[in-house]
Amino acid sequence: MMTYACEMAGRIKALTAQKHIRILALETSCDETAAAVVENGRTILSSAVYSQIDLHALYGGVVPEIASRAHVEKVSQIVDAALKEAGLSFDGIDALAVTCGPGLVGALLIGVSYMKGLAFALRKPLIPVHHIEGHICANYLTFAELEPPFLCLAVSGGHSHLFAVEDYGTYRLIGCTQDDAAGEAFDKAARVLNLPYPGGPRLDKLADSGNDSALRLPKSHTDGLYDFTFSGLKTAFLNAVNQQRMSGQMMPDADLAASFRKAVCDQLTEKTVLALRDTGYKKLALAGGVSANTRLRLQLKEACDREKVEFYCPRLDLCGDNGAMIGSAAYYRLLRGSIADLSLNAQPNYSLLNP
Ligand code: KG4
Ligand code: ZN
Repeated sequence: MMTYACEMAGRIKALTAQKHIRILALETSCDETAAAVVENGRTILSSAVYSQIDLHALYGGVVPEIASRAHVEKVSQIVDAALKEAGLSFDGIDALAVTCGPGLVGALLIGVSYMKGLAFALRKPLIPVHHIEGHICANYLTFAELEPPFLCLAVSGGHSHLFAVEDYGTYRLIGCTQDDAAGEAFDKAARVLNLPYPGGPRLDKLADSGNDSALRLPKSHTDGLYDFTFSGLKTAFLNAVNQQRMSGQMMPDADLAASFRKAVCDQLTEKTVLALRDTGYKKLALAGGVSANTRLRLQLKEACDREKVEFYCPRLDLCGDNGAMIGSAAYYRLLRGSIADLSLNAQPNYSLLNP
């Protein structure tokens, strides 16, 4: 009998020549169990997301063991829900895709093992996907006309990167954080304000009613022109709040949240504009969980208008982790012939630059 790998390699040419390619994609890299069916990388036929927020809220952050267990418990149900919503059975699916990194190793392993099992049993090709590439592709699901090349600001709980998206699947690193990721900084500042997990979105909401010039925060310096740094900002914020608490003269929490959000968004915007000017890209895409941030979306849009650059950001339900973005990224990987064999493993430190 032909091995799975040989059989799949032999099928790629005919598959990629098909007019309609439907991919069932699974995402389990952190605290969302998500599956979706996406057609031709651009059309979402279904999307099912189970958020583990309630399970982790008790602990103030994601507990890896709890995340893995919850993925195991939910994965079949979420895959079934995605198929049902799309009105398809496994027969109607052309290929399978899974996030293989970066992320929590135990959480990734659940998705990778599950999809390897399905791929082998169903004799369907399996496409490994980089989580941040998925976030970038959420823009393709929102804007049918968006095509590379463009500059992308990818900001999530683990990433703050500026990428030049030169073509589908071809990325060049322009800048990245020297310490914390933007999402991590938002979460830590939220914790200082005793906001419950997940802090980023809650701080964002609180900031809407605050005065963003109430607290002066230092401008941070980086060696790289397009790099970011948030740890100094976080420490300055923590010190200021502690001082206010000790002196009993607290600013309203909304003012503190608004000042911190402004400082993060100003830095992200400033560096992105600099990179746009120097690289000459005429399109900017925002990606990752932090792309849901109200101020960041607004500020980058205004900056892009000034710079005569087209601005793209994912629709709100595609900003956080979801399966559809993985299905979109997988389509373009499949067209490049990028499929996995059954030795595929979770890659917690998977790089987008050398996939
Ligand atoms: O992409 P994502 O859902 O998971 C990772 O890949 O990390 O990003 C989660 C991060 C968290 O740090 C969360 O607090 C942050 O994105 N986030 C936000 C907002 N929504 C999510 N940060 C600021 N403002 C928001 N509205
Ligand atoms: Zn993410």
